[in-house]
Amino acid sequence: MRSLVRRSLGLLALAVLLTAFAVCGAQAGSAPGKTGILLVAFGTTVPEARASYDAFERSVREAFPGVPVRWAYTSHIVRKRIAARGLAVPSVPQALETMRADGVRRVAVQSLHVIPGEEYHDKLLRTVLEHRRRANGFEAVALGDPLLSTHEDMKAAAAALLASVPAERGADDAMVFMGHGTHHPANIYYPGLQWYLSERDPLAFTGTVEGAPGLDWVLDRLKAEGVKRVWLQPLMTVAGDHARNDMAGDEPGSWKSVLDDAGFEVHPVLRGMGEYAAFRAIWLDHLRSALQRLE
Ligand code: CO
Repeated sequence: MRSLVRRSLGLLALAVLLTAFAVCGAQAGSAPGKTGILLVAFGTTVPEARASYDAFERSVREAFPGVPVRWAYTSHIVRKRIAARGLAVPSVPQALETMRADGVRRVAVQSLHVIPGEEYHDKLLRTVLEHRRRANGFEAVALGDPLLSTHEDMKAAAAALLASVPAERGADDAMVFMGHGTHHPANIYYPGLQWYLSERDPLAFTGTVEGAPGLDWVLDRLKAEGVKRVWLQPLMTVAGDHARNDMAGDEPGSWKSVLDDAGFEVHPVLRGMGEYAAFRAIWLDHLRSALQRLE
């Protein structure tokens, strides 16, 4: 009886010892800190447009179960407008601070921008580099590329665009993809994308609202090709304000109105790129690579 007690005590001591070793091992700093994902988009003031962001978040949670996911918007104006409606979304520095306070030590930041333009460089890359330089309580911060970055991305995006065309599109119908466009040097991604599209589909065109190529160029191409029917789709993460007004709006000057007046039969499609699995797969790949770079 006494020997049984002694043996039990011995096992208990061993268990305590093993537990102590396990705790020490964790405290020694050998185990990496908690990992988190920060999704960063321009933002939108249109509630229905958030379908794109929601769909992407679902894909992320499915691909990386258990990893906490947070959002930030780079547009100050969007943040201000939606905050006035009680829908606060933080900026990138604010979101990183919240994650740090939540105990996250390794962050994969994924850009949901289309091109590496001003929003990406000034509001995102700069903040990430600053956090990396000063650590700010993080062990590692990695940044995932926007949709269009490498040659592989361009090929994948062109394929995704053509996979996203409506089933009703006829063989002689043109596809027009409306991007934002920018004064930033990264505007080159839009005429660049046109080359990748032309390789695959001679009736697929890229235009931009604020950069080059513009609607005039698209109009000339449609006339030159003798097109009758045109499908209009956003080359934007969300079908927000630009897609609803500049692209598909009924006011004079919208792409739909201009093409209508030029005699084309116009069919706008109000779906952002985040609503298609093919585009989400590209962004998800970029996030996966950012997570790998944390290791
Ligand atoms: Co704009």
